[in-house]
Amino acid sequence: MSCLFALSGKGGVGKTTLASLFIRSLTELGKTPVLAIDADPNSCLADMLGVKIHFTIGSARETVRDEAEAQKISKQELLRMKIAQGLVESSGFDMISMGRPEGPGCYCYANNVLKMAIKELSDQYPYVVLDNEAGLENLSRRIVQSVDVLVLVSDASNAGMNTLERLYSLVREMGVGFRKLILLVNRTRGGELPESAVRVQNSTGAQKILALPYDEEIARLAEESRPVWEVSGSNPIYRTILELISEVIK
Ligand SMILES: Nc1ncnc2c1ncn2[C@@H]1O[C@H](COP(=O)(O)OP(=O)(O)OP(=O)(O)O)[C@@H](O)[C@H]1O
Ligand SMILES: [Mg+2]
Repeated sequence: MSCLFALSGKGGVGKTTLASLFIRSLTELGKTPVLAIDADPNSCLADMLGVKIHFTIGSARETVRDEAEAQKISKQELLRMKIAQGLVESSGFDMISMGRPEGPGCYCYANNVLKMAIKELSDQYPYVVLDNEAGLENLSRRIVQSVDVLVLVSDASNAGMNTLERLYSLVREMGVGFRKLILLVNRTRGGELPESAVRVQNSTGAQKILALPYDEEIARLAEESRPVWEVSGSNPIYRTILELISEVIK
């Protein structure tokens, strides 16, 4: 059984940055290999991890029926092959990029087969980190059936806090299962939790809420188009995430 972390939240609040630091923390703790799933078609998770993706698997589901017939193999087998082709191996983690969500030519069956294939792949890893696009599209499409640790990310604004509450209600409405809920309030001034964050912790019953300050080193890496993976081992945001992960997986 693998332990799946899914990061979700409002646009631009730092989900991909933090997902990268989750992955680095897991590798640092020796919880390898980690599977990193990029479920945001516009994401830059690969860039932030310093790896190159050559092939996303999203398009596979649209052509799988015809290709499987032509190659006289089952759709499951073909998707397994495509996923294996799309998997990029790096130090301590492998990464797969989902690419575009289902398009107009896509049919449900192929989509379900793809989800099964992703599940099968995830089951081969002890730890999986899923970086989602803004909102809850991916969770509602049920790329994964349930997650172990749901991480909702916001900035410190009141609007951000309201979004977290809305996201939480959606999670409940859609019946997305999770064992632990963690709220991360990112890019705060001086690392202080805004007052509204306490309200959100109470209304969601989150087990943990953390304020992460605006960080110059992370901002500089982004400015220089360098992977956040390269952040120094003493970086305070990285240290906080490392501590959080060791506590959560205990
Ligand atoms: N604590 C931080 N301090 C300074 N800059 C940060 C911090 N966290 C994230 N950033 C910067 O904020 C920007 C947005 O971060 P990121 O791309 O991780 O957000 P996102 O939530 O994944 O966005 P999207 O919704 O577009 O996927 C990036 O330039 C990143 O370097
Ligand atoms: Mg992102």
